[in-house]
Amino acid sequence: MKQITIAIDGFSSTGKSTVAKRLAKALGYVYVDSGAMYRAITLFAMRESFIREGHFDRGKLISKLTDITVSFKFNPDLGFAEVFLNGDNVEKQIRTLQVSNYVSQVATVPEVRKQLVKQQHNLGKDKGVVMDGRDIGTVVFPDAELKLFMTASAEKRAQRRYDELIERGDDVSYQEVLENVESRDLIDSTRKDSPLVMADDAVRVDNSHMSLDEQFDYILGLAKAKISE
Ligand code: DC
Repeated sequence: MKQITIAIDGFSSTGKSTVAKRLAKALGYVYVDSGAMYRAITLFAMRESFIREGHFDRGKLISKLTDITVSFKFNPDLGFAEVFLNGDNVEKQIRTLQVSNYVSQVATVPEVRKQLVKQQHNLGKDKGVVMDGRDIGTVVFPDAELKLFMTASAEKRAQRRYDELIERGDDVSYQEVLENVESRDLIDSTRKDSPLVMADDAVRVDNSHMSLDEQFDYILGLAKAKISE
């Protein structure tokens, strides 16, 4: 069967990764969470104290980029690939609100983007891939056969992210999660290098009022149509 590239972009906490993982499983494709790569670099910067007390030393991070290896390893129990930073599994550590608070700033650094985009190209070079992020359909795979752009209201997205964090046992308030979602949207869509914009040929999916199953069935239908074209 024909293998295609599926690019899923959109605002933070729109459920991109949930639908992308399910889609990859249904099609037997590889799923790549590109946001996890930016998060792993952010965690590195925090651990090295390049980010401290609200200050981010971009220069120090840039000078250490060659020391950073971000990789993925499939976990059969979870059914998806977990992210590793210099050989350590950091899948849990990259999902905290602290990392979320800085990741958009780290993602504005062109040197960081250049390094990760190169790796993302490589991960998707054989097609049969579902990759989610902010610039996948515009920069990483402008020729992707299927491009989706996911949106939902900021309040809906904050509520979903808040529920996730509470379930993990994190001590956060709904208000701080909403502020994080709104501030990331702003930074992601106004940065100079590869801002979050919808590709001209992307399909917009507003899932504010869609169930997970409705959304998945709709997107799977779009993918199957592209595969059989
Ligand atoms: O998808 P996510 O929320 O885990 O992504 C974390 C951040 O990484 C997001 O705020 C912006 C950045 N990002 C990006 O700039 N480009 C991508 N392709 C993926 C994520």
